[in-house]
Amino acid sequence: MNNYVCSSKAQIKPEAFHRTIDGSQVDLYTLTNLNGLEANITNYGGLVVSLMVPDKNGKLGDVVLGYDNLNDYFGSTPYFGALIGRYGNRIAKGRFTINGVEYQLALNDGVNSLHGGLRGFDKVVWQAEQVDSPDGPALKLSYTSKEGEEDYPGTLRCTVIYTLTTKNELKIEYTAETDKPTFINLTHHSYFNLKDGGASDILGHELMIKASRFTPVDKDLIPTGELRPVAGTRFDFNKPTAIGVRLASEDEQMLFAKGYDHNWVLDRQGEDLELVASVYEPVSGRCMEVLTTEPGMQFYCGNFLDGTNKGKGGTVYQHRTGLCLETQHFPDSPNHPNFPTTELKPGEMYTQTTVYRFL
Ligand code: GLA
Repeated sequence: MNNYVCSSKAQIKPEAFHRTIDGSQVDLYTLTNLNGLEANITNYGGLVVSLMVPDKNGKLGDVVLGYDNLNDYFGSTPYFGALIGRYGNRIAKGRFTINGVEYQLALNDGVNSLHGGLRGFDKVVWQAEQVDSPDGPALKLSYTSKEGEEDYPGTLRCTVIYTLTTKNELKIEYTAETDKPTFINLTHHSYFNLKDGGASDILGHELMIKASRFTPVDKDLIPTGELRPVAGTRFDFNKPTAIGVRLASEDEQMLFAKGYDHNWVLDRQGEDLELVASVYEPVSGRCMEVLTTEPGMQFYCGNFLDGTNKGKGGTVYQHRTGLCLETQHFPDSPNHPNFPTTELKPGEMYTQTTVYRFL
């Protein structure tokens, strides 16, 4: 039953995403759950283009940043709403070794490789199939990344299922298999703004992260290898805290990253889906919980947004108008044997599940 008022419906036209790229059809798919929540997702890059969820008065509003046409995603996008692969976040100097063989990836972020390289999974066309699951409407996306694509070893067959569940969750289930040992770290890169979808900053959003440690970085944002306790620091989000309160600082970590852009080591046991974070926005009353099977989460508060991206409905995304909660294995794990491994071997199945739940 639809209990919500849809006064600010996402003004996304499917035609603006209908196009053939390299012989494959790109489209916009709409998932609407029983409560009237709506997600618009394109099979180009698996991008979540809009996500309509209710505020405290039951009024639906878009809570993610993005563009209202496919063309703008070809230009300059800081990974709005994207599926990230093969490797989420940075690999130092784009280099790693498997079975004694060294691989050199393209450097697309200063001296590092970031988010899968020059043409990561956010820039490829996925095969799409709309499916009805008992949990709610779903979109199944499949992509085969051939051996050598972006210079990674092994052919990787990936499936990602987005479900908009009856419990008001955007559930993302990833699986992958390889034919040769390789590294993999898939994630999702929506920029959330629970207040107004990016018209104003996210500094008043109250964030909670269940994590006692984080992975400090060097000046190139590569983890030093240390798992540093957050207790007594501005990285302690165990109690919900407004994001803006502790941002201004001479702290070396904050200077390196220009704010929060770090991986938190989640306090979680085992491999089951667990609640790891929440965000509450007091003006709209919207609250989002994050559940995951992953050991880490990158919290990035939109430090690089600078008013150059003009998005949906003409909204210009100014500094820190969106926040990302990218559930993942730790950045640069291939070069840190003390981090949970990101190696995938033939015969193994990579799985990760993350849920963004709206209350
Ligand atoms: C991630 C990175 C950031 C930045 C954004 C995209 O969150 O950690 O440093 O690259 O993606 O702009």
